[in-house]
Amino acid sequence: MPNLLSQIREILLMGPGPSCVGSEVLSALARPTLGHLDPAFIAIMDETKRLLQVLMGTKNALTLPISGTGSAGMEACFVNLVRPGDRVLILSNGVFGMRMKDVAGRLGAEVDSVDFEWGTPVVVEQVERQLKLKAYAIVAVVHAETSTGVANPVDQIGPLVRANGALYLVDGVTSLGGIPVKLDEWGVDAFYSGTQKCLSCPPGLSPLSFSARAVERLKSRPSKVPNWYLDLSMIMNYWEGAKRAYHHTAPINMIYGLYQALMCVIDEGIEAAHARHQVAHLQLVQALEKIGLEMLVAPHCRLPMLNAVKVPAGVDEAAVRSRLLNEHRIEIGAGLGPLAGKIWRIGLMGHTARPENVERLVRAMKKELGRCPECGTKNEM
Ligand SMILES: Cc1ncc(COP(=O)(O)O)c(C=O)c1O
Repeated sequence: MPNLLSQIREILLMGPGPSCVGSEVLSALARPTLGHLDPAFIAIMDETKRLLQVLMGTKNALTLPISGTGSAGMEACFVNLVRPGDRVLILSNGVFGMRMKDVAGRLGAEVDSVDFEWGTPVVVEQVERQLKLKAYAIVAVVHAETSTGVANPVDQIGPLVRANGALYLVDGVTSLGGIPVKLDEWGVDAFYSGTQKCLSCPPGLSPLSFSARAVERLKSRPSKVPNWYLDLSMIMNYWEGAKRAYHHTAPINMIYGLYQALMCVIDEGIEAAHARHQVAHLQLVQALEKIGLEMLVAPHCRLPMLNAVKVPAGVDEAAVRSRLLNEHRIEIGAGLGPLAGKIWRIGLMGHTARPENVERLVRAMKKELGRCPECGTKNEM
């Protein structure tokens, strides 16, 4: 019987995630599996927590990777903090803001939202006006909106949320490792990320951090967290203290992978990694504009790791993506929701954010769009 794994081709992952995984992380994943209470594994857990604190800019003791992808981190934040009837405000300008509304609503929260046009950032003055109208238990926003390529001003929203008396919940799935994240400085109380974006580890874990205020709210719940698997009051007993209490079997090798991915970012230097994302982004934008393509998002709020590019009129965007994949082995993403068919999403995340990858993609796009006569393609535009 043929082994299907032997048919996997290497693809240059330039979509909205997962990103390319480097050889150090792939080797870490292949290390021998240990027991979940083995002292050598517990040492790796402790160091993983410490490296996450460094990368997130926090001293929060409750900082650990949740088992599951970014959405598990989102669920974990809401399910541990929301009590039925709580007022929750979501600042929404894309798919992941909408997902937050769904998650909070399922927990019996009274959800309000301030919505902004997709492709534009959250406007701080509008948030300020809403926070003057009502007190909230939680205010939530996505830092890097992967569905549009917009960076939201999470640093400026933090003080407003604190003044309202709410907890501040931030999605950093796409931001962590690619742009600065400073939880303590920004007053963030609950934060979650993902492994498969700028950390360049396969999908499977969601690094999460809770401030002392968030832990206090968790500990003072009048009833149990309504989800056993994501209950941080139990999970924390496995991740801290001299004696570790089993909760669920940790995804051992994924934690090796995350540990190694964090080591790679720290070894490179956090600021150097951010700068590499920015340089690759500017290189990409310049090259795409040179062949007449336009960016969706205004320069001041563009994410370096997620580039939303307008599909030119008359171009079959799905056909271009499929030729990129099949003929050039490059994956890019499509638009979602109201942007479906209108944009491509080009990821420059983690290991992918390198000049040679930008050059390879631009060469392939020129050819497929017929904008590169020397590539031998008919000029169909
Ligand atoms: C900003 C953001 N939040 C949440 C998620 C959900 O993460 P996952 O797909 O890993 O569950 C994603 C995934 O792309 C994302 O980009």
